[in-house]
Amino acid sequence: MTVSPDLDEADRLFNPLDPQTLADPYPVYRRMRETEPVYWHRQIDSWMLTRYADCSEVLRNSEVFSTDFRKIGIPTPPTLLSLQTLDPPDQSALRHLALDAVRAQDLTAIRAELTAYADRLFDELTGRESFDFIRELADTFTLKAITRFMGVEPPATDETFDRMNDDVDHSMDSQLDPDGAEPGLRAREHFNALVREWFAAPSGQGAVSYVVEHLPGSGVPQDEVLVNSVRAFFHAGFEVPSRFLGNAVGALLTVPGAWESLASGEVALETAVEELLRFGGPVQALARAVTRDTVVGGRTLRKGQVVTALIGAANRDPAQFADPERLDLSRKPNPHLSFGRGSHSCLGLNLARLEAQVVIGALLARPRLRLAGEPVVRPNGTLRGLSRLPVTLST
Ligand code: HEM
Repeated sequence: MTVSPDLDEADRLFNPLDPQTLADPYPVYRRMRETEPVYWHRQIDSWMLTRYADCSEVLRNSEVFSTDFRKIGIPTPPTLLSLQTLDPPDQSALRHLALDAVRAQDLTAIRAELTAYADRLFDELTGRESFDFIRELADTFTLKAITRFMGVEPPATDETFDRMNDDVDHSMDSQLDPDGAEPGLRAREHFNALVREWFAAPSGQGAVSYVVEHLPGSGVPQDEVLVNSVRAFFHAGFEVPSRFLGNAVGALLTVPGAWESLASGEVALETAVEELLRFGGPVQALARAVTRDTVVGGRTLRKGQVVTALIGAANRDPAQFADPERLDLSRKPNPHLSFGRGSHSCLGLNLARLEAQVVIGALLARPRLRLAGEPVVRPNGTLRGLSRLPVTLST
């Protein structure tokens, strides 16, 4: 991954791909929030927001802060048009169908199946000298969870699958590294072929079958935008929770006292998971198109500009969270922005919470998990996570 060497002096305040920033962006976010909370980044060509109130406002107001960049003259490649890139009312029928499909799934049954699955995975890993929590647990578990939820066969996790995944992830940073854009589009087409196969032969179970069955009369045309939306659901449904599981377990293993506090049973697992989401949420940045002149945090944003809500920074804003740099597993209430807000807020948040509760719960019932090497950070500024987390469960 390359970062332009000619970063403007002002942009040096925030270079998301700088190795130190990738490893720990939070001191940088703090400096930005304290010095220029609404900051024009020339290389990214976007306003950068680091305050909770500003990020929240932008995410809630899809009329002024749109995910449809065509409204400001930036073309959207057809493969990217989905419920993520449309605003209400164009998005509404799709979003409602997706919400209904999500609500129709039996989370109690899914929890039981995933608990058994996590136990099986950990049984296999227990006693091994060490294993990589990311590849051998988180990636495997989250793929199982999303395919069960959608009622589809897990795709072969071969080299092509890994490369396609990497290409989609890499393209999320395409504003900083334009070379990633084209391979990202090709990879999405590859995943679209899977979605078409699922539509052609629905299993009768899960969210995909729900969509196929309820499509007539839903107001949603059976077109490319639907295929793209299901693909976005699938990809968001395993890649993001896997990054989160790595961040969460990494924090529990590296923040002094965190594991002990959770293992003591003093803190409810549900409460702890919310704090882990605030503290180590994987999604760092959400971009929006400004559709009319407006003021945010005292600065004028012009129609046609781009604004980026740095939700990782918002989650550490002292104006919203007391002692924000501290991992306080009993923090409550915890209105973090890790699942976004408003008309594009996460559709899989309850599944994501359930997955984290299942995996961490299964770990707490075993010999203590320990670090067995240095965690390695992924070179991605938008979706923060680890590429390796060596651990051991041996006693
Ligand atoms: C810890 C795990 C997860 C995190 C932190 C997360 C975070 C997010 C965030 C921040 C957004 C808002 C994007 C925006 O405003 O532009 C989002 C949207 C979305 N998420 Fe998640 N997500 C997670 C898991 C999941 C899962 C498991 C699924 C599927 C079952 C899922 C499906 C989606 C979809 C389809 C959207 C787009 C919604 C729309 O644009 O209407 N996510 N997610």
